[in-house]
Order: sequence, then C-alpha cells, then structure tokens
Amino acid sequence: MSTNAPLHRPRRLRSSDMMRRLNREVTLRSADFILPAFVREGASEPREITSMPGVMQHSLDSLVEAAREAAELGLGGIMLFGVPEKKDAVGSGATDPNGILNVAISRLREEVGDSLLVMADLCLDEFTDHGHCGVLDERGGVDNDRTLEVYREMALAQARAGAHVVAPSGMMDGQIAAIRDALDSEGFTDVAIYAYTAKYASAFYGPFREAVDSSLSGDRKTYQQDPANGREALRELELDLAEGADMIMVKPGLPYLDVLAEVAAASPVPVGTYQVSGEYAMIEAACQNGWLDRERAVLESLLAFKRAGAAHVLTYYAPYAAKLLADLPPHLREFA
Ligand code: PBG
Repeated sequence: MSTNAPLHRPRRLRSSDMMRRLNREVTLRSADFILPAFVREGASEPREITSMPGVMQHSLDSLVEAAREAAELGLGGIMLFGVPEKKDAVGSGATDPNGILNVAISRLREEVGDSLLVMADLCLDEFTDHGHCGVLDERGGVDNDRTLEVYREMALAQARAGAHVVAPSGMMDGQIAAIRDALDSEGFTDVAIYAYTAKYASAFYGPFREAVDSSLSGDRKTYQQDPANGREALRELELDLAEGADMIMVKPGLPYLDVLAEVAAASPVPVGTYQVSGEYAMIEAACQNGWLDRERAVLESLLAFKRAGAAHVLTYYAPYAAKLLADLPPHLREFA
C-alpha cells in the first residue's frame, strides 16, 4: 500500500446512486411544501406578478383551480393572502366576513378543505392604506395593543370562514396569546396557530409588495427583527411557545439558515420557514438568464431548509417541486 493511501475514504459513501440514497440525511416530499397564494378582490382573471414570474394574483375561480392542483399534488397546505379593492387606516377588509380573504377561505374550505390545509395570513398590511401591519397611534407609530384587538377579530373572522390554520405575521408582542384566547372563546380550539416567530425586517420581501399592491410609508423596523440579531429569535420562540403557538416559522429562508437551525434545534414543536418573494425572484431571474439550472437550484434550496431543521417550507415553488416528485417512479419519490 502506498504511504499516501488514506485510511478513511468518505467518498465510499458517495460512490453510487444506491449508496447516496441509503445515506441521505434529509429528503423532500410534497407534504413538506406550503403554497403561498394571492387572491384579488373583484378580479375576473388571474394576473401575473411582474417581479415574480409564474406567480399570480388570483381571481377566486383561478384560486380554486390552483388549490385543487395543490391538493392533487399532495401539498402540505395553501397559505392565503388577500388583495382587497379598498384599503383604509384600520384594515377593515380583514375583519369583514365579506372581505376577500375571508371569502376565499370559505370557498377553499368548501372546495378542497378535506384534502388540503387551508391557512390564512393574519396581518393587516394587505388591508391598510398606510401599509403597516397594525393600526397607528396619534404619532404614526404602530399601536401594539390596539392592533391585538383587531387581530382577535381577524382570527375569529378567519376561523368562522373555516381556516384550519391562522398565521399571524405582524410581529406584535402578545399576538399569539391574544389570538389563542379569541379563538378558544368561540370554541375554535382546533384551529392551529402557525406563528411567524422570527420575522426579520428584510429587503427580500420586495416583490411581495407588488403581489399585494402595498405601498408602505416608512419601514417595519419597530416590529420586525433586526437582521443583525440571532439571539432575539430564541426569545421570540420562548414567548410564542408560552403563548400557545402550535407551529413556528422563521422568515426569510436562505439568508437566515443559521437562525432556522438554532430555532429548530430549540423548538419542541414543528418549525417551518418561508422562502420569500425576493428569494423566488432571485432564483427565477438567474434561471431565466440561463445562469442557474432551475431544477437543481430549487431543489437544493429546499433541501437546505430541511437540512437546517425545517419541518416544512412555504415556497412559491411548491407545485413545481411537487410535480418534479410526482414525475419520479413511486419507489424513488424523494429528492436529494
Ligand atoms: C405580512 C407578510 C409579508 C410577507 C408575508 N407576510 C410582508 C412583510 O412583512 O413585509 C412577505 C412574503 C414574501 O415576501 O414572499 N403580511
């Protein structure tokens, strides 16, 4: 044996497809993916979002079709965002049972509610004319405790419409406790709370603003987390767990894999992550230029979330990834 022959050869476990499959730590399945979807009030046709090629602002009818496809593909759920026709200072459309988001929830619950989890974003920014996630005080700041009152009403409206899961994304202090209390007070003890626990004030939400026709005055730095901070995420986790969160989210995804890994390691309940609009736009832009291979880039990004400890991923690629899975022979329906 030559002297430079290594004793240890990690390459042995990479030597064939069979060997790699056997030793894979994480895999992807369609139930891991949650599809975020936008529905626009008064729309008769779906309309593509310019900065998110392939992603639509749906009409109610095209939303139902997308949800049917999602159910057929075995996705984990659909996360709904409403785009109301009229916005006002307190986001009235969010609590109105005839508001677009609540109408969409009940429509989907009726059409696909037995085979697909219907989830709803619980936040005011889509509904307010100033674009903030809460109601404002006299000085223009976001009033935490008054916002909680509106969130309680919003949670009830969503639960009455039939949401299986509500997902508070406004980063108000005490929002999970307030929503749990409101839901339980009307007997909605089975409606789960998917808490956006660690949500950062991120540039990567850029295209989402177009998706929900929102123009924000100012920024969200007084309620969303500072991108420089990781430790704070653990505090938010502790609080959300104590307040009764059923599932936890870290958002955005790829730029915050370290936070995801830490939160996932510390959490006794499932942790998901959100591959946000800007992450989607970056991958798409590179793919459209031929600079990245879409299939490989998408699957690698999704695997990274699983490797970091995510139980599920909100991704605009959900149907795309699930279709890739469905095209594989049954005994190979996993990815790496
Ligand atoms: C707030 C909310 C936002 C996103 C999801 N929920 C916007 C924000 O907080 O500024 C962003 C999602 C994305 O960028 O894909 N309702």
